[in-house]
Amino acid sequence: MPSVLITGGAGFIGQNLVHAWRAARPEDRVVVVDAMTYAANIRSLEPLINDGSIQFVNGDIGDPALIQRLFEEHAFTRVAHLAAESHVDRSISDPEAFLQTNVLGTFALLNAALAAWRTSGLLDSARFLHVSTDEVYGSLGPADPAFTESSPYRPTSPYAASKAASDHLVRAFIVTYGMPALITNCSNNYGAYQHPEKLIPLMIIHALEGKRLPIYGDGSNVRDWLHVSDHCAALIDVIERGRTGETYNIGGGNERNNRDVVGLICDTIDACFVASPALGQRFPSCPAASGASCRTLIGYVTDRPGHDHRYAIDASKLATDLGSRCSVGFEHGLAQTVHWYLDHETWWRDITSGEYKAWIEKNYGFRAAVY
Ligand code: NAD
Ligand code: TYD
Repeated sequence: MPSVLITGGAGFIGQNLVHAWRAARPEDRVVVVDAMTYAANIRSLEPLINDGSIQFVNGDIGDPALIQRLFEEHAFTRVAHLAAESHVDRSISDPEAFLQTNVLGTFALLNAALAAWRTSGLLDSARFLHVSTDEVYGSLGPADPAFTESSPYRPTSPYAASKAASDHLVRAFIVTYGMPALITNCSNNYGAYQHPEKLIPLMIIHALEGKRLPIYGDGSNVRDWLHVSDHCAALIDVIERGRTGETYNIGGGNERNNRDVVGLICDTIDACFVASPALGQRFPSCPAASGASCRTLIGYVTDRPGHDHRYAIDASKLATDLGSRCSVGFEHGLAQTVHWYLDHETWWRDITSGEYKAWIEKNYGFRAAVY
């Protein structure tokens, strides 16, 4: 039976990938390893764990004895490596964990997988997919062409630098040891199960609660939004059909500046309240509950240090080589996402207590309103 290890499977993209993998390849054995940091949430996986269709292991990718034991037990033929510290703002205030997990953790995982596949003779048929980010390429000017797989690495945040270091390690293992690895660099994801520290869920939840919508700087920074379902479909295509040793960029083809993204979130929520007036009782502090627009909550705050201006992905290699294309348009995907957060209030309320409150105070407390 084919057997896959998904690292970081309790995170945002990881949970979506576990569900996508079960749907696309129901015969495969799926094992998730996740250290259950603040960013993890296992609730969506519980039905799969309880009915035995996946196995969940609470553990660190940087623990070689654990990873070796898992390889011995399950003879993985695929590794989808998503475990990481992933939030740029946290990497600015506390970079150490990023080096620990993203660099040293990736190194430990590569080492363990290489040793296991050498011993079992699977080096020719196994595949290791390293999931990385477009942030390794640095920042684009407004008229620059989109990042290709051969764009130079110019990371600017500690997060991006740690992911760049991990990409370099994976390439070194490919060239030096014949590691059967592939790398993907994708743009900003959005969709169900995203932690409310990231732009889109943060703005949705703040709007519902009638809190300020804190846009960094002047809001002209551009991201290329990729729906997580398109991303997961592409990851499965790459790990199954991509050429080992290669890198594939994955992008949504949806470049938007932050002002427009936040404005669209506001308009989408306003429309939901018009269509379902009962939402006003659930979220009485939301301006839309009294017929006003959520746009009244928008405020511009002190910028992120070293804030990359623009990311854009040229995903033509993925389309040409693998026929893999993203299909979710941004307006449609964003409306779906707003509905998902409206329908999963318990999920985000559990997260937005405790540690999260301390983070909001740390990251936003010092940011002055700019205008
Ligand atoms: P996330 O922060 O939501 O989830 C990361 C998961 O990794 C969490 O469940 C966490 O508990 C786990 N983890 C952290 N350290 C670990 C360790 N030492 N051992 C085992 N598990 C550990 O992140 P995400 O948004 O799902 O991102 C997944 C991957 O995709 C990351 O590698 C990230 O760099 C990459 N990526 C994300 C985006 C995005 O927009 N979210 C964009 C480009 C690339
Ligand atoms: P984020 O979701 O943190 O992803 P990344 O930094 O990896 O691109 O942020 C997306 C964009 O939104 C980025 O330009 C920073 C901006 N942003 C804000 O303006 N306000 C916020 O409160 C957050 C979290 C992000």
